[in-house]
Amino acid sequence: MLLKVNGDTHDVGAPDHWTLLEVLRYRLGFTGTKQGCDKGDCGACTVLLDGEPVLACLMLARLAEGHEITTIEGLAPLHVERGGTGVDPVQDGFDRCGALQCGFCQSGMILSARALLDANQSPTDADIREALAGNLCRCTGYTQIIEAIRLTVAEQHGTRPPRRAWERPAVDDLDPRTGA
Ligand code: FES
Ligand code: FES
Repeated sequence: MLLKVNGDTHDVGAPDHWTLLEVLRYRLGFTGTKQGCDKGDCGACTVLLDGEPVLACLMLARLAEGHEITTIEGLAPLHVERGGTGVDPVQDGFDRCGALQCGFCQSGMILSARALLDANQSPTDADIREALAGNLCRCTGYTQIIEAIRLTVAEQHGTRPPRRAWERPAVDDLDPRTGA
């Protein structure tokens, strides 16, 4: 089968019943796509198919023929191809917010977030939570993950990101009547 992954076309042989996840990891070596539950529950295997997040563990590889597949390895190059520099801003936001513990969920989280921001440049917190609803973090680091996406959105708009959970309010933000 011919699979186009991160801009490159691969002629890959694999049994017909192999999933996209299996081909990506065990034939093509894209191990950034994680194998968690392998049954559609955790979102760790999320990749983008024509820019839309899909669960690679539930999709037969053959069905991905003719589509553009983006894995976490392809995200920074794609950003550069679009005229950016360095890594994708979502990756940068995750890095700066410390939005990982073991990191197992991170590829899927970042790709789901990228798909959200490509479709909606001004997502609300509710939009962010909905977009990530299929991605589970077993380390439960959701606070920093949401903050990383808020930071990315704010910087896209040149605005100040919302205060992070552990930050003291800036003096300007304090209510002069209560001091809180
Ligand atoms: Fe695909 Fe968990 S590995 S959803
Ligand atoms: Fe460990 Fe999310 S950081 S699963």
